[in-house]
Amino acid sequence: MPVKPLLPLMALCLGLGLAANAVAEPIRVISDRTPAHLTGLFEHYEKTRGVDIEAVFVDKGLLARLQSRPTEADLVVTKTADLLEEAKAAGLLRPFASETIGSGIRPELRDPDDTWVTLSYRPRAIFVSKSRVKPGEISTYQDLADPKWQGRVCIRSGYHDYNLSLFSQMAADKGLEETRAFIAGLHRNLAHAPNGNDRAQARGLHEGVCDLAVVNSYYMPIMMSTEEQRPWGESATVIFPDQGQGGAYIMRGGAALTTADDRVAEATRLLEFLVSDEAQEFIVNTTFEYPVRDSVALPEAVRALGEGQPGVSEGRFEARFVPLADVVKQRDAVVGILDEINFDGR
Ligand SMILES: [Fe+2]
Repeated sequence: MPVKPLLPLMALCLGLGLAANAVAEPIRVISDRTPAHLTGLFEHYEKTRGVDIEAVFVDKGLLARLQSRPTEADLVVTKTADLLEEAKAAGLLRPFASETIGSGIRPELRDPDDTWVTLSYRPRAIFVSKSRVKPGEISTYQDLADPKWQGRVCIRSGYHDYNLSLFSQMAADKGLEETRAFIAGLHRNLAHAPNGNDRAQARGLHEGVCDLAVVNSYYMPIMMSTEEQRPWGESATVIFPDQGQGGAYIMRGGAALTTADDRVAEATRLLEFLVSDEAQEFIVNTTFEYPVRDSVALPEAVRALGEGQPGVSEGRFEARFVPLADVVKQRDAVVGILDEINFDGR
């Protein structure tokens, strides 16, 4: 009778399971996000679920860190999901088994092989000077390369993740030749050699250095919330590019399980929590990015973006979801184009 000996064995396993829970190892998270974007959320999770989270924040080099210490964390959370696609290719991620994620999140926002999921996204937008650019004068990325804007465009380094992602998405979407022509045209239109971060470009609009700037959408609400930077925000209008023409390219933030194998179930539950309405609401209100569930309301400051622009309604815009696997494949070629053009030079 095989059943009888199984029962004590099951009881033993259950007992061990309970004992393991009683010691409750923390879930270890590694992230390149701004700590303030996650710590409140993690504290809430710890309090309501009775599970400890140990988070390590790195500013840069998340992929290299994952490569050198692959099982240091159970869960990786990044502002640049492109890195997760690279980590996946390097065998550094474990597919998650979750019906909640599989059925609740649109396929465009997760890896077809279930190794990563988007937690939020934001468009690479065009900020335009309110006083020097008329409404409707610019509506597409392609316009940034129009000779009409010669000497009037600001952008940060072409090699920054945000721009590499933008150019690589364009390359995956429209081909390398069209992208090369765009990058060259954009470069010819620059007001000065790329420098500074996204906010510095918006400041350039305010100071009259340029009339158009490439900036992620969420910097507008962020700038409007600080006294020093509010004038920069007030000088600009946010344009969501390519509305009705394929949609704006987006930067995805995401999360994935590492190959660490001792806290898989717990880390999966935390991953499920991060895409829940409850967590998504927190994320959009702290980052001013867009939620992965349409049921989550946008903060007032985000709803105001793109007001009056055709195709944008209460801050909701048309996004272009280029598969990340295709995007990552273009990176090296894009870097080659930037080198060739000497994009960061003048
Ligand atoms: Fe940013």
